[in-house]
Amino acid sequence: MVLVQWISTTTSTIVFISVALLLVEAKQPPHIVFILADDFGWHDVGYHGSEIKTPNLDKLSAKGVRLENYYVQPICTPSRNQLMTGRYQIHTGMQHEIIWPCQPYCVPLAEKLLPQLMREAGYATHMVGKWHLGMYKKDCLPTRRGFDSYFGYLTGSEDYFSHQRCSPVPPHNETRCALDLRDGEEVATGYTGTYSTQLFTDRVTSIIAKQDPNKPLFLYVALQAVHAPLQVPERYIAPYSFIKDHHRRVYAGMVSAMDEAVGNISLALQERGLWSNTVLIFSTDNGGQTLTGGSNWPLRGRKCTLWEGGVRGVGFVTSPLLKKPGTVSRELVHISDWLPTLVSLAGGTTNGTKPLDGFDVWNTVSKGFASPRVELLHNIDPLYVDMAPCPGVASRLTLAQGSGSEPWSNSGFNVSVHAAIRYMKWKLLTGYPGCDVWFPRPGQEGSERSGLKDAPLKPVMLFNLEDDPEERLDVSDQYPDVVDQLLRRLRHYQSTAKPIIYPDDDPRCDPGTGAWGPWA
Ligand SMILES: *[C@@H]1O[C@H](CO)[C@@H](O)[C@H](O)[C@H]1NC(C)=O
Ligand SMILES: *[C@@H]1O[C@H](CO)[C@@H](O)[C@H](O)[C@H]1NC(C)=O
Ligand SMILES: *[C@@H]1O[C@H](CO)[C@@H](O)[C@H](O)[C@H]1NC(C)=O
Repeated sequence: MVLVQWISTTTSTIVFISVALLLVEAKQPPHIVFILADDFGWHDVGYHGSEIKTPNLDKLSAKGVRLENYYVQPICTPSRNQLMTGRYQIHTGMQHEIIWPCQPYCVPLAEKLLPQLMREAGYATHMVGKWHLGMYKKDCLPTRRGFDSYFGYLTGSEDYFSHQRCSPVPPHNETRCALDLRDGEEVATGYTGTYSTQLFTDRVTSIIAKQDPNKPLFLYVALQAVHAPLQVPERYIAPYSFIKDHHRRVYAGMVSAMDEAVGNISLALQERGLWSNTVLIFSTDNGGQTLTGGSNWPLRGRKCTLWEGGVRGVGFVTSPLLKKPGTVSRELVHISDWLPTLVSLAGGTTNGTKPLDGFDVWNTVSKGFASPRVELLHNIDPLYVDMAPCPGVASRLTLAQGSGSEPWSNSGFNVSVHAAIRYMKWKLLTGYPGCDVWFPRPGQEGSERSGLKDAPLKPVMLFNLEDDPEERLDVSDQYPDVVDQLLRRLRHYQSTAKPIIYPDDDPRCDPGTGAWGPWA
């Protein structure tokens, strides 16, 4: 009956056909767009009460699912590595720091990466932006690791306008500034002066405009924003004259440009008719850098640290395909979970990967089910013993000396090592987690170390994050059994760790007057 009515007039026929097309389209696996921001802090998004305005992120996330118990790694390379492999850093040998421009290594070639799996599932795979997963030889490049196309930069921390990266080169460590921008595998010249947030968004929207709607798209957008250096066209700063702190003011402008970029990308998807079958994920790669305008208030620490300010990330999923849109999820989700989640959404298989540490969390995100993840290894880095991560930012710290009779004395885990693990509401940290300050809310004065000024940190600390997300009250003395249990888990994880890959700089890296790129 209904069908007969529909086809009774010409206009109804058109409606009928488009409904039919929609039904066909809905059966196709969804287009997946993953936008990764760089160094975007907890308190830098409008919906966390920031003074920075992010209307697009607010609006898109309000229609989607905000992930409020979402974790990333404390720095660039590790987060990207886990996103691409679905595996913890200890399992790829990359548990230490980032890949510096002259280091001859990359994510081990034996690791099967997310874009390879998406390609096997029949997707077009494109990447725009920051790679930072190694480039010393061509086999390490994004185009050799599953992406059909690539436009972006291979290292990190470059200039937003000149697209040059300055870094020391061996053997004398003089600073070399050279271009770092590629289109595919070729050096991309001719973009000097174009702000990278704009440049990358233009490339993304042109990929979307050319996308065949009948072929599923996997698009990885790793924006340069909002990492230092603090640079942005003046017009974005204008609305923030009320912010007194210069760093924060420029940073706010950078965030606004990024917010506009995300708005433009979602608009391009709508204009191309892809939106109804798209899943868009937005995530930061790590906590904000307070030295360059970022804020993670009220969380403790910052980028580079294993405190919540370093690892609790801004993230959301937005899509017409979500079963419970407009909700806030407090379920535990980690950046390593995207690989199995997205491959499963794509109808693909994780066959061929090494054992995954990530979980398929789609039912958690879409339907509000309990997360399959109850435990999370933040990291174990045995090259940091009683020491702070991120050289040049923090320094060696004297930890309280044990008496030898502490509950952890017989755990078999070296508690001087920089490590952290989460189990349900519990978080255990060992060694020196990094800058342990509570930075004030932007615009307010003073930072706190809360009476710790003269008292050294304990080598083992336990926090109940449900009651105490700011990590103010160490409860390790009250819960020795929990401490014991988590130290055993750390010992277990450490027994599965691969040897650390962190080679010396290779003098052949020197780009001279050319561009950074493969040399081996
Ligand atoms: C260059 O830097 C490396 C790593 O920091 C250091 O080991 C080396 O001694 C430095 N070389 C010179 C000539 O300063
Ligand atoms: C977003 O789109 C508007 C309108 O086309 C354009 O003026 C603006 O430069 C774009 N911004 C970014 C960051 O791409
Ligand atoms: C997984 O890969 C292996 C080796 O390529 C193959 O023999 C097997 O059939 C695959 N299994 C699935 C479920 O695709």
